[in-house]
Amino acid sequence: MTDTVQSGPVQTDTTDLPPSDPASTGSLYERLGGTYGIAGAVDVLADRLYANVSANQNPHVQAFHQMKGHAGFKYLVTAWSIEQTGGPKCYPGRDMRESHADLHVTEFEFDIVATEIAATLFHVGVPRQEHKEFMDIIESYRSMVVGPPGDKKED
Ligand code: HEM
Repeated sequence: MTDTVQSGPVQTDTTDLPPSDPASTGSLYERLGGTYGIAGAVDVLADRLYANVSANQNPHVQAFHQMKGHAGFKYLVTAWSIEQTGGPKCYPGRDMRESHADLHVTEFEFDIVATEIAATLFHVGVPRQEHKEFMDIIESYRSMVVGPPGDKKED
């Protein structure tokens, strides 16, 4: 029996997910259902993240969740996802490195959030190809979101 938890790209078996609609071509943004599809998924995701006990072990994350508007966070993550998937340029927030720098996010905490994202894509029924493309985008930001260790109690 081991108590180590491996960190790294979150492995999700998408083999049994439905294939993409062959009639649906175009940007990932379009294939995810555009603004309504993405906003619907982020609505589910943000609720899961705010309630995620493991993610909230990080005191900076917990403080943010207790302090600032949940609706504003949903808006920013929706706009970020729209831009990243090839939709209109509409993200007014900070870049990923800057917005996560003071949170001292660990590899393990990144995995927790990536797992919630993958679970949300399953939950809302995103097909195999789009699931993979979106998770590849998330993984490409790992090094910008994971920060140097900080004093989690005092800073
Ligand atoms: C690739 C993965 C991630 C994406 C796409 C993402 C996306 C975002 C976006 C768009 C914002 C708003 C930026 C702004 O305020 O201008 C944000 C802020 C935030 N993210 Fe992430 N995030 C990711 C990973 C994480 C992880 C792993 C954690 C913690 C475990 C986290 C916790 C937070 C918190 C607490 C804020 C609010 C920071 C503040 O305003 O003080 N995020 N994220």
